[in-house]
Amino acid sequence: MTISSPLRLATSLFTATYATRPALAASAPGRVNLIGEHLDYNGGPVLPMAVRRRTAVVAAPAAGWWAASSRDSSAGPFDPEAAPSGRWTDYLAGVVRTLRGGGVALAGAQLAVASDVPAATGLASSAALTLAAARVLARLSGRRLGAAALAEIAYHAEHDEVGIRCGRTDQVIGAHARVDTALLYETGTGEMRHLPFRLPVHVLETGVRHTMAVGALNERRAECEAAAVTLTGQGLLEGPLASLPPDRLGEAEVLLPAPLARRVRHVVTETARVHAAAACIEADDLAGLGRILAEGHASLRRDFESSCAEADLLVETLLHHGAHGARLTGAGWGGAVLALLPAGREREILRRTRTMYEAAFGRALTAWQSRPAGHARLEEIPD
Ligand code: GLA
Repeated sequence: MTISSPLRLATSLFTATYATRPALAASAPGRVNLIGEHLDYNGGPVLPMAVRRRTAVVAAPAAGWWAASSRDSSAGPFDPEAAPSGRWTDYLAGVVRTLRGGGVALAGAQLAVASDVPAATGLASSAALTLAAARVLARLSGRRLGAAALAEIAYHAEHDEVGIRCGRTDQVIGAHARVDTALLYETGTGEMRHLPFRLPVHVLETGVRHTMAVGALNERRAECEAAAVTLTGQGLLEGPLASLPPDRLGEAEVLLPAPLARRVRHVVTETARVHAAAACIEADDLAGLGRILAEGHASLRRDFESSCAEADLLVETLLHHGAHGARLTGAGWGGAVLALLPAGREREILRRTRTMYEAAFGRALTAWQSRPAGHARLEEIPD
């Protein structure tokens, strides 16, 4: 349970660190992706929603760059022009360089950050940080950013400056999210549709930090690109990988070596699942949506090979005890499972799942729930 909001924590950290009050504050949400995993860098559709866990960044102009984080009690200077060091401040540096590249004049700032988005858990904590930092730093230099520009700056900072070959799901949902809606985002065309979705989603953390997911994500992306080159060369594919028509999947699989054929099968079947899931949401068909989520998990486990034992056991146990659906969300190789549970049976299903998880892995399960939350925004500084 959150005892103090990230905004309050960031503000008191700022005051304690710099002995002065911040000038501006912003916050941005974490997210779960309901369905559409590993499609954003393949030009396919995704269906994320923001969660009620947020990262707050508070700031004041300064000579030079300073950052403090409540997460690791670190506070100190950082150099935005230095090469990435593997520290969390790389993301701040990436934002500063991106803003400077876009002509935003930034001399320096004191920053303090606090968050209740779990880190390395597949819930887009890095996008929450870059979005909140970009919001606050742009405004510090007098710029107002629209949602699309904000998402693009956060994406550029993570993808091009920090060097993680992510797609745009996390930055786009964090910048555009609306309360009680999920976002159908067609990454191939940029089209977005907000679908009313008023249900709580349960998040069960696998306890496996997905830090190795960065290397694995880059590797999967390279596999998908190699498959797309082959299929384009053979005249089977005209656009991005996700545009391969399902009725050409059989032919494509014959042309590709085994792991690549499985990756393409995931991309093509997952693309169909996102559209089917959006239709279920619009029809209020929770049972149908749940079945699609479960199929999505099986595809990650079998074809994309991005799951882990903890996620597989959680999904299996949740489904066994009556969840509508459950699946690993985010990049994978650890992280978190999301579940849709029938109203009135949540406690019982979670209790049974907790017992199973704790017996199997010898550690406590962290689980919480959220309804769809709102986008990155400037905040009033609390007293
Ligand atoms: C990470 C990336 C996203 C997306 C997911 C997998 O979260 O940041 O862009 O590729 O993995 O769906």
